[in-house]
Amino acid sequence: MPGRPSASRRTVLRGAALAPAAALAPAAALGLAACSPTGGTTAPATPTAPVELGADSEVAQGGARLYRDHNVVVSRSGSGQLRAYSSICTHARCPINKLDGTTLICPCHGSEFDATTGQVVREPATEPLNELPVRTENGRIVVEPGA
Ligand code: FES
Repeated sequence: MPGRPSASRRTVLRGAALAPAAALAPAAALGLAACSPTGGTTAPATPTAPVELGADSEVAQGGARLYRDHNVVVSRSGSGQLRAYSSICTHARCPINKLDGTTLICPCHGSEFDATTGQVVREPATEPLNELPVRTENGRIVVEPGA
């Protein structure tokens, strides 16, 4: 009958109208969980005890290395001094997973940090990374928990 949609057509249209909302709900939930600073027991952490990261030779002069498993970045100045920072973003506590040269790039909202100083080079983060004590011991890099 023309002018009146059949029951099956109405069902299809209703289903199509609901589908986008249903499809977005899980993504929204994931987004909130990944960026929540109060993520509960799943919040990433930096070392809580001294931890050996790797060989001293892994960090070149003027370079940096990201130790994702420990959420730590280590850099070495031109004069050879090591510095270490937590690689947990100070914006909303996402673990930073990308190091481009000596620039750390947060995957959550795009903040960038200088791995040699811990300073913010791109917002939305405004606070520098937390510096961690670092030393070499028997040719290995050892980082300690921060304050
Ligand atoms: Fe938002 Fe890193 S958590 S930029």
